[in-house]
Amino acid sequence: MTETPVLSPVEVLELFPLGTRVDEKGQLWLGGCPASSLAQEFGTPLYVFDETTLRDRCRAYRRALTEHYPGQSQVAYASKAYLNLALAQLFAQEGLNLDVVSAGELYVARQADFPPERIHFHGNNKLPDELAAALDEAVGRIVVDNFHELNLLERLAAERGVRVPVWLRLSPGVDAHTHSYRKTGLLDSKFGFPLETGDPDERGAGSAQRALAHAVASPHLELVGLHAHIGSQIFDVEPFVLAVTRLVEFAATMKADHNFELRELSPGGGWGVAHHETAPPASVDRYVRAVCQAVIEGCRRHGLALPTLVVEPGRSIVGPAAVALYRVGARKEISGVRTYVSVDGGMADNIRPALYGARYARYTALVVGKADQPGEETVTIAGKFCESGDILIRDVTLPRLAAGDLLAVPGVGAYCLSMASNYNLVPRPAVVLVREGQANLIQRRETLHDLMARDLPLPP
Ligand code: LLP
Repeated sequence: MTETPVLSPVEVLELFPLGTRVDEKGQLWLGGCPASSLAQEFGTPLYVFDETTLRDRCRAYRRALTEHYPGQSQVAYASKAYLNLALAQLFAQEGLNLDVVSAGELYVARQADFPPERIHFHGNNKLPDELAAALDEAVGRIVVDNFHELNLLERLAAERGVRVPVWLRLSPGVDAHTHSYRKTGLLDSKFGFPLETGDPDERGAGSAQRALAHAVASPHLELVGLHAHIGSQIFDVEPFVLAVTRLVEFAATMKADHNFELRELSPGGGWGVAHHETAPPASVDRYVRAVCQAVIEGCRRHGLALPTLVVEPGRSIVGPAAVALYRVGARKEISGVRTYVSVDGGMADNIRPALYGARYARYTALVVGKADQPGEETVTIAGKFCESGDILIRDVTLPRLAAGDLLAVPGVGAYCLSMASNYNLVPRPAVVLVREGQANLIQRRETLHDLMARDLPLPP
């Protein structure tokens, strides 16, 4: 067994939301609320979002853009990381734009009165009904992904007699160093018009160029910008710089060839977040500065005016803002092999370890009430779902766990609840928002009744 490094509570707490603290009794406080009281009041598994952290992350992005970019800029939160009514309201208050990818995300945003002109609609296969909903709601930008959509959108716009502001999503041929499921900027990707070879026509124009020429010439579309998203959970700035450089270069060529004016530019989202203590540091400022410099430099080189720069973070806004609280149940010791400690949630509320091999805090999940104590044993935290792959944390070193203990797992704000399922017909967790000692339920726990709400009996 490998040596367990001794981490101070300070290092441990860096993975938790701002203001998290451990008191002298080993109690964990989140947003000024004792974690044990939250679990008592709202039940477990419980997802606890810290409002201060959420707002702080939004502001960190806005501040970095203001500091490093002399042109106009916007931060569009990528809803897919996790959206509900209260969060949509919070992002609206923080002055963010919103990236949605389905009629569902659009619906939640509009129920929260999120201004439609600040919504961008993404996706590689937007359905006709979704595009129609986007047009009926007059969303700010539709990000056209492929020729099928280009034609469909033109037809829908023509039927309505409107001119739709669009971006084109381009695939810049950049390899981001992340899990292969999360790479989206390569030539071999389902997303976007490839810049690289792009299936040239008889005059040598590639897909991206043909899409641009089509959009520029269309009376029903107003091409205002270019977009690329190269992947997610990326810690290097270089792939972002390369993607921006290629987009600006393409824009310059298209200006010469088609009189295209680059008014808006988005290098997507994808900046990483540390989920465990050995992850590289991920400063939002470093990422934003690199992207800004690449845009400024590219525009200078090609003599282009600075476009409005739009970054689309998802994970790096909500990821660090939430902690999952699980109740410990069964324990299985296999002598000389492994000890499994099972909790009351798992892959249905957080599929990331099972799907991507994501690691959560090898030494730093905390046991509420024992959060001040050193690790005594190395165990594997298993979920309650009927699959051997349902492991939340492999080999975590913690104080000895007993049934009834409460385990706190940090860094679960992004892509956990948004990818949650009802596997084994287990109701999905409740979500609370904490701030300054106040806890407000923002999504109630699913009930057994909810699980059957769509079912109908056999016909007689
Ligand atoms: N913009 C576009 C067009 C995107 O497709 C995405 C994420 C984002 C922005 C936000 O990326 P972020 O800043 O959150 O990395 N389920 C995976 C992540 C999938 C990301 C999909 N697209 C995971 O849990 O790692």
